[in-house]
Amino acid sequence: MEAAEVLIPQPDGLVGEAPASPAGPLDPDEAARLPAPPTIELPRLMQVLRFNQRQIQFVFRARRELGEVFRMRGIVAGAPVITSHPDHVRSLFTAKPELAPSLTGESPLRPIVGPNSVLTAVGPRHMRQRKLLLPPFHGEAIERYVEMISDVAEREITRWPEGSPFSLAPRMQAITLDVIMAGVFGIEGRPQRGTPEHGLRMATKYLLAASTWPLAQLAELMNIGRDEPVGLTKSGLALLDRPTYQVIAARRRARDLHERRDILSLLLLARTEDGEELTDKEVRDELLTLVLAGHETTANSLAWIWERLVRTPDAHERLREAVRADEDAEAVIEATIVEGMRSRPVIPIIGRRVTVPWRLGEYAVAADTPVTMSILLLHHREDLYPQPFAFRPERWLGRKPGTYEWIPFGGGIRRCLGAALAMAEQRVVLEAMVRRLDIEADDPEPERAVHRNVTMIPARGAHVVARKRR
Ligand code: HEM
Repeated sequence: MEAAEVLIPQPDGLVGEAPASPAGPLDPDEAARLPAPPTIELPRLMQVLRFNQRQIQFVFRARRELGEVFRMRGIVAGAPVITSHPDHVRSLFTAKPELAPSLTGESPLRPIVGPNSVLTAVGPRHMRQRKLLLPPFHGEAIERYVEMISDVAEREITRWPEGSPFSLAPRMQAITLDVIMAGVFGIEGRPQRGTPEHGLRMATKYLLAASTWPLAQLAELMNIGRDEPVGLTKSGLALLDRPTYQVIAARRRARDLHERRDILSLLLLARTEDGEELTDKEVRDELLTLVLAGHETTANSLAWIWERLVRTPDAHERLREAVRADEDAEAVIEATIVEGMRSRPVIPIIGRRVTVPWRLGEYAVAADTPVTMSILLLHHREDLYPQPFAFRPERWLGRKPGTYEWIPFGGGIRRCLGAALAMAEQRVVLEAMVRRLDIEADDPEPERAVHRNVTMIPARGAHVVARKRR
């Protein structure tokens, strides 16, 4: 079911500054005066297949042939419109939540984490869950995890093969899994066999690996649009739920619950505005959301950064030198991560469903239209990023990413809750790897992208050869 495709330079002819493009809610009379966006003229099934398997070619081609805003026939209800203009992005990120609820409420994760988690809920329920979860994800709270992430990374690096090729992605996943287990569940190191903590770690590892099998992807398709899981997804989840509920029950009874800083403990202590505590099911839904949203994304983002670095000797050397000499190391590490996430956004598209007519530049779309933002197209606009297909971390030295121009974490009230944690993980792991290892590509050809669920990942998992630095 998977196909790989390469991101080849495709100039869009945009020069100078991005021209302003009015966007936002319209009343029906105004909307009637503007044309609808052009539609991709291909049979629906072919569009869905191409979008799912070759999204890069699909969106770049439509952008070239139809312009900045176009419409496709897709699998979410209604024909989604795709845009990549920063003003359109701004209009959606800053809209009142009821005018542009997130499309994640309709995502394939819905039957898995239920309709009420911070990822899948919309409206007041979403705000309630987000308020409960925000404190442990703040930048300051994340600082506490840095030492733990560093220990996990150092431990993992020592296990890697020396001098023979291997894929970085699974190694990065081992790190992000340990970080999630520690930060989210408060389970540090390797738990003792036979304990619910051990069961939970093993079941999570197994299910995350199994989710990449073709059968699991088929199962996922069967689950789209449902509130409850069916088939393989249902039996897989039962395996995970048992130890999860055991860990929740044990933690409720833990004597040190009030002193603990992990997210599970904070959720058990949290109270809603009405003074209610969360039920076990609510806690389980949020924990699972965090595992699913935070594990593969961060791991593959790191893998992409390395896929780019080993094929861009200038950038790699500058990073190595900055870390070695400890000169501007922080700025250069940050710039490398920001550029990696610009050029290879792990989640290449996000969306909102507008509930009123919406202006997108010269076009208007009707109420109840899914409006998606192609992060990939936005990040490759030549008017925002000269030579957009080149990997150039230096473009970020002394420049901050624009809120509506660099959006790998989305934005507005749906911005990724784990962004600070993901950035901290990437900083710590990247620096540890640069400090300890000489890393090279095993093949000079760029790795192709594979689209798996909502993510875009390197086809060979960032295949490299590593040697200890002398
Ligand atoms: C490099 C790593 C990551 C990337 C690229 C990423 C990207 C995203 C994106 C694009 C969204 C949707 C935003 C929108 O629609 O505006 C999102 C939402 C979310 N992410 Fe992440 N994410 C990453 C890591 C994490 C981590 C580590 C966690 C937590 C442990 C996490 C938890 C979430 C949650 C809970 C949401 C839903 C927020 C809401 O709807 O209010 N993510 N992420």
